Amino acid sequence: MSIPEAVVEAVRAARHILVVTGAGVSAESGVPTFREAQTGLWEQFDPHELATPEAFLRDPELIWRWYHWRRELVSRVRPNPGHYALAELARLVPGLTLITQNVDGLHQRAGSEDVVEFHGNLFEDRCFAEGCVVTNGDMDAPAPHCPGCGGLLRPGVVWFGEAIPPQALHTAGQAAAKCDVFLSVGTSSLVWPAAGLGDAARESGAMLIEINPDATTLTDRVHHYLQGKSGEVLPELISSIARD
Ligand code: APR
Repeated sequence: MSIPEAVVEAVRAARHILVVTGAGVSAESGVPTFREAQTGLWEQFDPHELATPEAFLRDPELIWRWYHWRRELVSRVRPNPGHYALAELARLVPGLTLITQNVDGLHQRAGSEDVVEFHGNLFEDRCFAEGCVVTNGDMDAPAPHCPGCGGLLRPGVVWFGEAIPPQALHTAGQAAAKCDVFLSVGTSSLVWPAAGLGDAARESGAMLIEINPDATTLTDRVHHYLQGKSGEVLPELISSIARD
């Protein structure tokens, strides 16, 4: 697809770009989104039933088996051209804030720095009671415990019903207030507060651009909807900007 000239010019002239990504940016890497059917043993489970503190406390060993399965799956995949294009974009503009709802760490593996992880990171272990990151837990145990307090360890992700890390929220609000361009990539824009960032950016006068093969709840409020896969559209955007 060709990128509209207005988009190329706005991105080239932008002082600060706010990018919000969702599961769609990792789809071409082979990471199933929450809403796609789970496979194998996990097919019988609804992720929304598993990714909660209540489910974890009810059966920590089951939840740890699920997360070990997800960690194994994600460790086998690689960033795709969309991840690399966003890392490149940050090098082409004066300021860029990258907020992701994904927990797969693929943006970082593609070279993006200062990634704001709204929903935490799949590969982090945290003490359930204290919330701190733990790096020396006995991760081979069926339900690992914190070496510090002896309580349960949990995956370092934000579960349904839990709050977004306050620092991440603060960074997001600041970026939405000062950005000239807002770029929504691969998210259904259904889950708040990430889903509200586009409207906040628009109120600050930013140009809203959405990259997604399917229309979303945000699509009718953006200035430019680039229909397509992020692994194809983002590299095209980068080459359009670099082209004189
Ligand atoms: N390129 C770009 N977008 C894509 C691609 C692709 N190749 N493939 C799919 N998509 C789009 C889908 O059309 C959909 O709009 O990615 C979006 C994925 O939406 P969701 O599965 O709802 O994922 P996300 O928006 O990240 O969900 C937000 O909700 O499931 C919880 O905590 C979980 O972080 C997640 C949050």
